[in-house]
Amino acid sequence: MKHLLSTEDLSRDDAVELLDEAARFEQALAGREVRKLPTLRGRTVMTVFYENSTRTRVSFEVAGKWMSADVINVSASSSSVSKGESLRDTAKTLRAAGADALIVRHPASGAAAQIARWTNDGTDLPDLAPGQEQPTSTGPSVINAGDGTHEHPTQALLDAYTLRAKFGSLDGRRITIVGDVLHSRVARSNAHLLSTLGAEVTLVAPPTLLPTGVATWPVRVSTELDAELPGSDAVMMLRVQAERMNGGFFPSAREYSARYGLNDDRRALLPEEALILHPGPMLRGMEIGFNVADAPQSVVLDQVRAGVHVRMAVLFRLLASGGADAPAHHQSTG
Ligand code: CP
Repeated sequence: MKHLLSTEDLSRDDAVELLDEAARFEQALAGREVRKLPTLRGRTVMTVFYENSTRTRVSFEVAGKWMSADVINVSASSSSVSKGESLRDTAKTLRAAGADALIVRHPASGAAAQIARWTNDGTDLPDLAPGQEQPTSTGPSVINAGDGTHEHPTQALLDAYTLRAKFGSLDGRRITIVGDVLHSRVARSNAHLLSTLGAEVTLVAPPTLLPTGVATWPVRVSTELDAELPGSDAVMMLRVQAERMNGGFFPSAREYSARYGLNDDRRALLPEEALILHPGPMLRGMEIGFNVADAPQSVVLDQVRAGVHVRMAVLFRLLASGGADAPAHHQSTG
């Protein structure tokens, strides 16, 4: 695997291998005071974020550092992007500066895939001498850390990891994803990945917050949250993405919260063992009740912890898997 751009590209075997690898990293580091593996020593990983982030950027940075990579953070506001540099020039500049991996968040759907093409298609390489072979893929690996309303594949992987840690297998598990599906890259990535892993996924949203193409997704769709909760093994609440709504949305915030918010009364409709997930950042009092996020069934912070191990697994798979140091990759240097 060269890039991670979409969960639609992952077979069940790919996904299971990544989740197993993440579990091995978690085991290898459990209880250690010094969390440092030699796996990516000498490799350079750059996070390139054109949108704000806490969880994704920090956990990629932690993952890279725990694997001894050199991690460099580039943000649009503090780089030459703010002087008008194009996305293509920035990407090619970072490649020339030595990036082995670019972890990209951008408001435009498809941006990460476009960067993968610009930095890997070979068209910017110098002319080859007669008889010299064109290298097939010399550019950095690109990881999509959220592209517009399209995909957020490592979020879905960490969600699957969290669910698998509690349930064992996802086969036949009923996962209900609730809220602003229209603007959610998390919903799309999870719909595909959780289905690939055997879960039965139901999307619950007001009709105005469902994408037109949802009929092609491997999911069932409902508008009635109260009817879906009693049969759910897990409920994943989505953030209402005001930044993609041009100032307003329908239904109103008050109506949305009343019909689709996971408040204490609705939490009581869930089976006792059901899990509550949220990718964060949470809008408490909007899509999730103030106390519900901290309820015993909530695994919100487990999701964050899983994010580090899953991102270690992704970096390992793209940068080190099969490499010379692969057999030793779980041995600590500390
Ligand atoms: N879930 C998620 O992507 O959170 P951040 O925006 O904080 O990275």
